[in-house]
Amino acid sequence: MDIQFTHTENSKLKEIDFNNIPFGKHTSDHMFIMDYANGQWRDFRIVPYQNIQLDPQSKALQYGQCIFEGMKASMGNDGIPKLLRPDLNIERFNLSAKRMCMPAVPPDIFLSALKAITRTEIKWIPKTEGSALYLRPTMVATESSLGVVPSSTYTFYIYAAPAQPYFTKPIKLITEQTLIRAVPGGTGEAKTGGNYAGSFMAGQLAKHKGYDQVIWLESPHFKKIQEAGMMNLFFVIGDTVLTPKLSGAILKGTTRTYFIDILKEKNIDVQVRDVYIDEIMEAQKEGTLIEAFGSGTAAVVSQISEIAHGDKIISLPQADKAQISTMLYQEINGLRAGLIEDYRNWLVPVNN
Ligand SMILES: Cc1ncc(COP(=O)(O)O)c(C=O)c1O
Repeated sequence: MDIQFTHTENSKLKEIDFNNIPFGKHTSDHMFIMDYANGQWRDFRIVPYQNIQLDPQSKALQYGQCIFEGMKASMGNDGIPKLLRPDLNIERFNLSAKRMCMPAVPPDIFLSALKAITRTEIKWIPKTEGSALYLRPTMVATESSLGVVPSSTYTFYIYAAPAQPYFTKPIKLITEQTLIRAVPGGTGEAKTGGNYAGSFMAGQLAKHKGYDQVIWLESPHFKKIQEAGMMNLFFVIGDTVLTPKLSGAILKGTTRTYFIDILKEKNIDVQVRDVYIDEIMEAQKEGTLIEAFGSGTAAVVSQISEIAHGDKIISLPQADKAQISTMLYQEINGLRAGLIEDYRNWLVPVNN
């Protein structure tokens, strides 16, 4: 793929303290960008990180026709940057594109762009274990016209931000029984901005009540668990790991897929099925709820210490008993750091 390069003359690299990188605060020096018109992606270029121009009337701004992805490039101990199963992000991005009536990005172009920006920003990849260069592929609709129909032109870009290990203290979640994030047939399966804007209010209400995030339940019965914040959910009951089955309203997390694959490989009973809040509350009462955790790119694993549902509040066992989530965390971090052999061939080296 022919990419035109314009290098920055003012690298921000010297301003970064790699021992203290607040998540998402610093963006790197360059970004990949390309445009779509007349049915074709063109003008592949890497340019200094900069504002993009959008007409005030563009369909991204007026109708929210925009999608994104979140993934990490990490530095292996062989000095070669690695992407972890980028095919899953590319596939999800193109599913989001389809749902929002946007053009697909051919997987070979997408992967070449990911590699090109990672190679260009190699000095921006933090080297400490668990750190990574966060990559944010994004597509926005650029056509200026008020017609409520899909845009005919788009811009795709990937920018990068160095990220430290994102350790979260165990989190407290509260079920939401009025507001809805997504319903089957809606856009919940797409990674599109409106889903996030639409979830802010419930998140803020949860914070006011002293909780970190909400657990979304499926309307109209508010019994079936969907997901939480920017995480998919897992529950360990006895010897079984439960995670909600995709219903058309849940984002298909890449970390969720890694976890399901690892659990199956280790012959741990993992059930991907409808999971109900009442059975989780009941399991805790009976003493069989061993662990609950969220999965996502930022933290990999977020342990859950408390769940509030209606007038009931349950506390979960301490994190040191959390064998399954600790194992999953170590598998993914160890793989990224090159400490665990990649016999599954999940890592894609960025060396060409
Ligand atoms: C709504 C939502 N659910 C789940 C996830 C977890 O997905 P992943 O594991 O790909 O980061 C995310 C994060 O991107 C998210 O935004």
